Amino acid sequence: MLSFRTAGESHGQALIALVEGIPAHLSIDFDFIDHELKRRQSGYGRGGRMKIERDQVRFLSGVRHGKTIGSPIAMMVENRDWANWEEIMSVREISAEAATKRRVTRPRPGHTDLAGSLKYDHTDARNILERSSARETAARVAAGGLAKVFLKVFGIEVLSHTTAIGKARVPEDLIVSWQQLETIRDDEVVRCALPDIAREMVKEIETAQKDGDTVGGTFEVVARGVPVGLGSHTGWDTRLDGRLAQAVMCVNAVKAVEIGKGVRIAYTQGSQAHDEIAYDNQQRRFYHLTNRAGGVEGGITNGEEVRVVGYLKPISTLKKALRSVDMVTKEPFLAQYERSDTCTVPAAGVIGESMVALVLATAFLEKFGGDSVEETTRNYNAYLDQLRAY
Ligand SMILES: Cc1cc2nc3c(=O)[nH]c(=O)nc-3n(C[C@H](O)[C@H](O)[C@H](O)COP(=O)(O)O)c2cc1C
Repeated sequence: MLSFRTAGESHGQALIALVEGIPAHLSIDFDFIDHELKRRQSGYGRGGRMKIERDQVRFLSGVRHGKTIGSPIAMMVENRDWANWEEIMSVREISAEAATKRRVTRPRPGHTDLAGSLKYDHTDARNILERSSARETAARVAAGGLAKVFLKVFGIEVLSHTTAIGKARVPEDLIVSWQQLETIRDDEVVRCALPDIAREMVKEIETAQKDGDTVGGTFEVVARGVPVGLGSHTGWDTRLDGRLAQAVMCVNAVKAVEIGKGVRIAYTQGSQAHDEIAYDNQQRRFYHLTNRAGGVEGGITNGEEVRVVGYLKPISTLKKALRSVDMVTKEPFLAQYERSDTCTVPAAGVIGESMVALVLATAFLEKFGGDSVEETTRNYNAYLDQLRAY
């Protein structure tokens, strides 16, 4: 069974991803995984922190001579900024005076600061915000990069694109093709496949910046090459749509998730909502004439592209101050601006890809198992034979 956890604080020494269950003999594409981290760090509207960090993965275990050996894989992404925080984030006790430096008693609206401090009984919200910060997602992208490397062996690929920033949107009923997604260059600042709309998106970010405000939006993750039959209708927690929704919903600032055209079809009639079925005699496979379902029916992949949309709120650290109350003095104050991003939708899309890749790799290994890549491949090929013989 594939599983992963992350550890690490935003200004701690490093972020860690621990991945268990990747079969032995998988060749690791180190450059690809580092490149994934770079993609997460880019995008128009990011703040100063991303200029400091140059993320790279260091593998600490589970890989030998370039290949997995079947044991847990520990990956580390160092925080360059740690050099400026060594004392404040020290794991050892420090003097009471030093401990008050960079103490946070003023909770920021829209953040974890207040709820987390009350729950864990902290009066310094730094104990909360260091972990709830989206910096943690660097470790998720490292784990997701590994999942992508695994899926690629079986011809499964995952990409994403930005579908809205503020009022600039890709038309609702347009399905952006895989070929269009592949045209998005790494230096494309908003990661939108349609150049005209990309320009409008940049303007939305610039307007928000000028107004001292922030802007949200949506991204779509697309996975192609996914076989029919991942996930299961038999239990509430085995349904793949539910698992994908959780995986994308837990990306920081994501407030809603849609599978395929799920939101729009809620407002249509059934005849415009479903994907009719056809059969390709030559390839001996069933397919759908449209893909409004986003590749999942009844919690099982149906062989079409898996498409998941994440909706992000505008992030909550604004130059325009919001009202809050000091946790210690109980005095009201206006939340101050800290170094922050204006728009994180393009980066969130990359994180969404990782989360989707991890869910698909988990479901793939549930169905096909195998302790080595060769064994998984044999099992997978036998299933493909079964489908062809159907
Ligand atoms: C890539 C990325 C970067 C983010 N950067 C910031 C930031 O600079 N400032 C900020 O206030 N929120 C930022 N956020 C959003 C917060 O992490 C998030 O809103 C906060 O942790 C509360 O969680 P919630 O919005 O999911 O409820 C970022 C989110 C993502 C995905």
